[in-house]
Amino acid sequence: MRSHYCGELNTTHLDQEVTVCGWVNRRRDHGGVIFVDLRDRSGLVQVVFDPDRPEPFRIADRVRNEYVLRVRGRVRRRPEGTENPELATGEIEILGHEVEVLNAARTPPFQLDEDDVGEEHRLRYRYIDLRRPAMQHNLLLRARVTRTLRSYLDEHGFVDIETPMLTRATPEGARDFLVPSRLHPGAFYALPQSPQLFKQLLMIGGMDRYYQIVRCFRDEDLRADRQPEFTQLDVETSFMDEDGIMGLMEEMLRVLFREVLDVELPDPFPRMSYAEAIRRFGTDRPDLRIPLELVDMTDAMRAVEFKVFSGPANDPAGRVAVLRLPGGAALSRKEIDDYTAFVGRYGAKGLAYIKVNDRARGRDGLQSPILKFLPDEVVETLLERTGAESGDLLFFGAGKALVVNESLAALRVRLGEDRGLVQADWRPLWVVEFPMFEWDAREKRWAALHHPFTAPAVADAAALEAAPGEARSRAYDVVLNGVEVGGGSIRIHLREMQEAVFRVLGIDEQTAQAQFGFLLRALDYGCPPHGGIAFGLDRLVMLMTGSRSIRDVMAFPKTQTAHCPLTDAPAPVTEAQLRELNLRIRHQP
Ligand code: AMO
Ligand code: AMP
Repeated sequence: MRSHYCGELNTTHLDQEVTVCGWVNRRRDHGGVIFVDLRDRSGLVQVVFDPDRPEPFRIADRVRNEYVLRVRGRVRRRPEGTENPELATGEIEILGHEVEVLNAARTPPFQLDEDDVGEEHRLRYRYIDLRRPAMQHNLLLRARVTRTLRSYLDEHGFVDIETPMLTRATPEGARDFLVPSRLHPGAFYALPQSPQLFKQLLMIGGMDRYYQIVRCFRDEDLRADRQPEFTQLDVETSFMDEDGIMGLMEEMLRVLFREVLDVELPDPFPRMSYAEAIRRFGTDRPDLRIPLELVDMTDAMRAVEFKVFSGPANDPAGRVAVLRLPGGAALSRKEIDDYTAFVGRYGAKGLAYIKVNDRARGRDGLQSPILKFLPDEVVETLLERTGAESGDLLFFGAGKALVVNESLAALRVRLGEDRGLVQADWRPLWVVEFPMFEWDAREKRWAALHHPFTAPAVADAAALEAAPGEARSRAYDVVLNGVEVGGGSIRIHLREMQEAVFRVLGIDEQTAQAQFGFLLRALDYGCPPHGGIAFGLDRLVMLMTGSRSIRDVMAFPKTQTAHCPLTDAPAPVTEAQLRELNLRIRHQP
């Protein structure tokens, strides 16, 4: 239907007769001449309709925004002074000879260049929202990302293999989406939270190197970087240790960023232990673009009379830490109150602070409601450890380590954003040496920090069971600019170790057999040492496009309440369908 895309026309096409198709972005009437900006995926071009040609002029006169047109005309240079340097096609225009309305359109529910359209509304009319240049850019870039990843993996001997969507529960820590079976009344398939067990079975099946760009399903609370269905780049390989896998994967990310964004990522990526990340940043996904760090003061606060500090300092599960904000002494009372309320959201009971007005004057140069509680030597240690300078502000977190870490980690990011401290840069990081288990205080049992198939870095099963809390795992996460973009591990390939891990997790033999019997059996038939990783593709593309939410890089995402405003899913089904599935709804809301 067309000879060119709108956005590709330029002065090399002068005097050519072209045909373009697209949507009316805007129609303007300028003293008898009609201008139509026609838009397609490639961009915009201006079409001019002159009253000299009454037929096309008459049609152009009645077109409205978002009408679909086909235009034939001649490319000409725009008159001097009317060029638009903002537009790729800004030096030329098409003089319309012929125009055909391929379809009319109702007035769109929002303008494409409108900024503050509610998300519900955008998603309900997603097909219009997708016409925005920003959305088109995001989805095109996403396609370049998957193409680049596929070719890298192909070149490195990875084979693209599909795994089932109707399967059994895979424990990645979220709730399952279940699918009732008609043929097996009362039984359910689970949608995969990841292909974890299947990719391990593929290794046992001798496939050696596997990858898949695959949908995963997790019924969990949603956030800006979480969706109930999302896409992983899932990878597994046999006969490789963690250094081999990490090397191959970070090279893949370097190639990806080079080819798609023309950005050089560091070689190698820095590595940091889990313990160091928590100590310095309060989180295992630190944003290294923000030059602020937590400084530990727990040991120094044990003997102070201020109970808010000495309490946690003497509690084995407690922590006292300080975040130094350069230039922060200028913060107003109101700003400090706002930050206090902010950390409150993470359970912090307060946010003590000290303003360092004049470092040279020692204690006399400080200003704080809590200063009177701190003896000289503690103040000296504090100033030294934090490297405080005149004009700085020191924020304190004291309490359970979990709360202090989470709240100060969030405050660190918030301060970075508010104070313009986030450097424009790409800062990838491997986080390694994770603990194998974490203690779930509510359920009173150990939980796997990664997943139950991750190998521990211990000599044998007996050593693991003797001290589960001490064991580190052979897991690794990739963090990019504060976002966990990927995670993986070396897996357990010995049945004895797998059973020991189940025991530590409180999964009894019967349950292990019922849920994972197929895996345990497979481990008996010659399972090679293997390991792998999965990247959150949506998160990667979110970062690469500078989007604030992964919803902006998915064509048809769900809202924060896991609802699709476009199709109105999830939706009730008929009584007949329920009967066929042997289901009855217990409570109608
Ligand atoms: P994990 O659970 O860490 O590991 O998931 C891998 C990556 O997937 C992304 N991700 C998500 N993205 C969007 N929405 C979600 N709800 C969501 N959940 C996770 C993250 C995360 O790093 N089977 C293991 C991988 C392995 O061990 O090889 C797994 O799924 O970016
Ligand atoms: P209070 O003694 O409760 O008036 O608190 C004195 C100062 O300590 C105030 O600035 C509080 O914000 C701060 N504060 C109270 N509890 C904590 C805590 N758990 N961590 C850090 N600061 C706190």
